[in-house]
Amino acid sequence: MSALRHVTVPLGTRAYEVIVGRGAIDQLDRVIPEHARRAAVVTQAEVPVEVVPGIDHERFVIGSGEQHKSLDTVADLCRGFARMGLTRNDVVIGVGGGMVTDVAGFAAAAYHRGVPVVHVATTLLGMVDAAIGGKTGVNLPEGKNLVGAFWQPSGVICDLDALDTLPEREMRCGLGEMAKYHFLTGDDLLALDLTDRIARCVEIKAEVVAADEREGGRRAILNYGHTLAHALEIATEHRLAHGEAVAIGLIFAAHLADVLGRIPAERVDEHLAVVADEYGLATDIPPGLDPATLVGLMRRDKKALDGLTFVLDGPTGVDVVADVNERPVLTALARMMP
Ligand SMILES: NC(=O)c1ccc[n+]([C@@H]2O[C@H](COP(=O)([O-])OP(=O)(O)OC[C@H]3O[C@@H](n4cnc5c(N)ncnc54)[C@H](O)[C@@H]3O)[C@@H](O)[C@H]2O)c1
Repeated sequence: MSALRHVTVPLGTRAYEVIVGRGAIDQLDRVIPEHARRAAVVTQAEVPVEVVPGIDHERFVIGSGEQHKSLDTVADLCRGFARMGLTRNDVVIGVGGGMVTDVAGFAAAAYHRGVPVVHVATTLLGMVDAAIGGKTGVNLPEGKNLVGAFWQPSGVICDLDALDTLPEREMRCGLGEMAKYHFLTGDDLLALDLTDRIARCVEIKAEVVAADEREGGRRAILNYGHTLAHALEIATEHRLAHGEAVAIGLIFAAHLADVLGRIPAERVDEHLAVVADEYGLATDIPPGLDPATLVGLMRRDKKALDGLTFVLDGPTGVDVVADVNERPVLTALARMMP
């Protein structure tokens, strides 16, 4: 077994540890709060990861798919927690991908006005993104992630053994999200093996979250590639999964930064080398989509407070750029149309 990596999310008295590597699940009791006497384990039928919390526990299985990421599911969980007599001295353990950790995290934040939660991330996306940073929430019929809370976990386990059973498309989605970290700092993630690469992604996210826990500014850079990605998800009626859309969004962001003169053309090639060559992700805009429609959708992006707003690479790194003109956006899109 290769050595485990321990990354700290530095949030003062709420700092916590993320343990990354094959076999990391054996360290679960390290991240369960000492006082916890009982655990509510929240998971899905498809998640083949067994957890043994070492304390009295009950298992709650929630449905798969975004339609189950709902207030109804949270209500069912909280009622289950009440029936088992869970208290603030106990712990909720979310075992699954981003859907489970978002729902379990939100139920933990709301039940008894907040009980500790530990995440066992079982998808690549969960490991490098969803389980880290304390954003929790559920969907409403009116939109995704509209109800939620910031609720930091007491610790996170990222056991790479879980990835062995992950369906190929889910793995691709995680790689799309992972690709963005290659451009957020100067370091060469390609030089690292998968354990070290995941640990470094966690560390980068941890640094950004520590600097801006509640997304007042800096945390927005984690949305690199996401403005076009959200538009593509809507325009394709979610035929493109989130991570697949982010992959295309990253290449678009590079082209746009190039068109705006913020980066040299070789930097676009570096994006393609990671997204297409290393991770094998598709980078063209799917056929049949109208650029004007995509621009309209990007204008409505919830992060776009000031005209067309993008997270773009530039001479001083990745940053938020507001009020971008439509013409360069269309030029960058044209480079990616089939
Ligand atoms: N909180 C955040 O900061 C944040 C960030 C990014 C995404 N998210 C949320 O995360 C969700 C997406 O998460 P996801 O991509 O992990 O998908 P997911 O949690 O929906 O999991 C995808 C599928 O894989 C299954 N699965 C999970 N682990 C498995 C394993 N080891 N082996 C086999 N199957 C397994 C699940 O049961 C599910 O059917 C979205 O709801 C998104 O909004 C949250």
